[in-house]
Amino acid sequence: MAKDKTLYTCSECGASSPRWLGKCPGCGAWNTLVETVAETPGAGKNRLSGAQYAGLAPAQQVVPLSAIEASEVARTATGLAELDRVLGGGIVEGGVVLIGGDPGIGKSTLLLQALDALQHLGLPVLYVTGEESGAQVALRARRLGLAASQVQVLAEIQLEKILATVDAVQPAVCVIDSIQTIYSDQLASAPGSVAQVRECAAHLTRLAKASGIAIVFVGHVTKEGAIAGPRVLEHMVDTVLYFEGDTHSSFRLVRAIKNRFGAVNEIGVFAMTEQGLKGVTNPSAIFLSQHSEPVPGSCVLVTLEGTRPLLVEIQALVDGGGVSPRRLSVGLDRDRLAMLLAVLHRHAGVACADQDVFVNAVGGVRISEPAADLAVLLAITSSLRAKPLPKGFIAFGEVGLAGEVRPAPRGQERLKEAAKLGFTVAVVPKANAPKKPIAGLTIHAVERVEQAMDAVRGLA
Ligand code: TYD
Ligand code: MG
Repeated sequence: MAKDKTLYTCSECGASSPRWLGKCPGCGAWNTLVETVAETPGAGKNRLSGAQYAGLAPAQQVVPLSAIEASEVARTATGLAELDRVLGGGIVEGGVVLIGGDPGIGKSTLLLQALDALQHLGLPVLYVTGEESGAQVALRARRLGLAASQVQVLAEIQLEKILATVDAVQPAVCVIDSIQTIYSDQLASAPGSVAQVRECAAHLTRLAKASGIAIVFVGHVTKEGAIAGPRVLEHMVDTVLYFEGDTHSSFRLVRAIKNRFGAVNEIGVFAMTEQGLKGVTNPSAIFLSQHSEPVPGSCVLVTLEGTRPLLVEIQALVDGGGVSPRRLSVGLDRDRLAMLLAVLHRHAGVACADQDVFVNAVGGVRISEPAADLAVLLAITSSLRAKPLPKGFIAFGEVGLAGEVRPAPRGQERLKEAAKLGFTVAVVPKANAPKKPIAGLTIHAVERVEQAMDAVRGLA
């Protein structure tokens, strides 16, 4: 088979060039040319030796929407309840999942456990490892207590060979660990380059759709999402899951960022143990650090992750800064922190302009919902004044630039969860105040930031 020519195509306008150029000859944009395989006429069919899936997808007819039978997607629950929860109920036939996360966070562990569970259900499964040798995978399996596992393993990094094997084995579920290590010999660039990652993922995705094999890609991504690799895949796949949590604590969160077959922002919570990842069934209290007495700079937030409320401790430290004070945040948005400090100054008269401000969401959890605002502000003022918030205190609510406190979605549920865990005092947006009192919980409903500050001062 003649090798296809390599072309560089602009991702903006589609213009192409036989060699790489910094500036697109078509639209003049910079750095938009990526390597692609030139389609020579007739080459499409025999390009993928071994995988004859092209014929599996016949040309489709145009039909009215009402004539299409809407069938429920066929799902298989893996039996790992927390993983099934983020997937929206289980692995979907022909579905393509991307699992991203820092190295060492537990992606391979989770998927090996999932494949083993699926294989116990009688499904043929295939684990393609490009990162580790078969022996290393076997070693991990021993550690997980899966020494006798019947999971089929293929140590291979060349796309064409993988496609051929998948075609021959016909697994129900296939894991590619990781997509960055796979390369196609149709492209000259190195494995892990955007072009390679995209080309390989596109072929495997097409195979999944044509054959009904569910495929899971593992992708490495840094905290800042710096590696372009898996990011370019997000639009290609059905489901995107990301691992969160810091590798120093034992808890791991798997969050659904995108899901064509389920709810987004749903999270699964796991603990990394000696025998792999174990689901945490009641995770609402794991992100609280245990202070025997209240300490300044700490405020418990009730956040909502997917369908369940989660209590997370927000910590702040405000300390003498100098000429260029720093604003740092871990697990929270830094731009939002700067905005909140401005609101605090303007509307509550609390100034931190000459101070360093650090905020942290305990446990490595990442909080993106604006309902965290009020807890962040209360933690900051508590640290600034060196006065702890009362024992058993929780807060939530979004804060606007005008100093108003806006309601958070599903406030009742948040308050009930806090009461269940023994919290006794809450400062919440007025619109979230329950009509009927919640046993054991005193609620202070506020409409403005300054009211929240007053309420807290009244409690101390
Ligand atoms: P791994 O799944 O290899 O991470 P990734 O594929 O995301 O890079 O997880 C590796 C880490 O997990 C490693 O630091 C060891 C730890 N670990 C356990 O604590 N217990 C176990 O049973 C296993 C298999 C791994
Ligand atoms: Mg791995």
